[in-house]
Amino acid sequence: MLAPAKINIVLAVGPRRADGFHELATVFQAVSLYDEVEAVPGEGVEVVVEGPYAAGVPTDDANLAVRAVHALAAHVGVTPGVRLRVHKEIPVAAGLAGGSADAAGALLACNRLWGTDLSVTELQSVGASLGSDVPFALSGGTALGTGRGEQLRELSVGAPLHWVVAVSDHSLSTPAVFGHLDDLRQGRAVASPSVPTAVLEALTHGDLDAIADGMHNDMQEAASSLTPELADVLSAGREIGALGGIVSGSGPTCVFLARNRAHCVSLATELDRSGLCRAVHAVYGPATPRG
Ligand code: C5P
Repeated sequence: MLAPAKINIVLAVGPRRADGFHELATVFQAVSLYDEVEAVPGEGVEVVVEGPYAAGVPTDDANLAVRAVHALAAHVGVTPGVRLRVHKEIPVAAGLAGGSADAAGALLACNRLWGTDLSVTELQSVGASLGSDVPFALSGGTALGTGRGEQLRELSVGAPLHWVVAVSDHSLSTPAVFGHLDDLRQGRAVASPSVPTAVLEALTHGDLDAIADGMHNDMQEAASSLTPELADVLSAGREIGALGGIVSGSGPTCVFLARNRAHCVSLATELDRSGLCRAVHAVYGPATPRG
């Protein structure tokens, strides 16, 4: 399975709920940067992690793909037997939901290997217990996410979107960024989150300038305060002519909207030359899990 990374075109964060999660309203888009997850018959559950971002990924029960396999086996009542190979092209702790992509890839691959034949909707209900981004990772495309991000409504987008994905030398822990956001907000009233209708209309019409105007991330201030280098990356993207640029999810990856594929490749080349990023990718969305 090829399991895509996600970016957030809009990420509005509401107050912290009683269960510790924050109420979100977000536009997710899956993009063409993929981890590969392969499942072959095996004894028990084993995982091998390889590729450019394998370092530091756990291979025990802390691995989200391994947890996904156990959750699926428990749900369908089988004894799990599988050897997983995860090839990581999606950076870790980067705001791109790479762990969720691996969990989604493992669910889809084992559902096929074991012939359990669950629908994507059923897999999404299994996936929701693993992480807020896992349900979206199973369907991909472009979607409005609410609740803690697990309630999804598919969105149609009038044009393919070309994104420069600027990978940072740093990583950020999602709970730490949410926690810092709460600290920054102390004493302020926090409205319930929503995605402006203008952004949804811009997406429907594929109106790139209006999409760029609507790009927004409530976590950006907290992520940038924890990783001050992000301000330089964001200004570099603006200076070289990206239509818009924001931090993706809880960061520290930044994403920039380009006018078309050629513009995207030229922005990526220029940003790479700046030396501000660990890696720079020219990708497009929407993408879907496949294979
Ligand atoms: O759901 P997931 O495992 O990705 O969440 C990781 C952590 O991020 C949660 O334990 C929580 O601290 C924070 N989070 C949050 N609100 C969300 C999603 C995640 O506070 N909507």
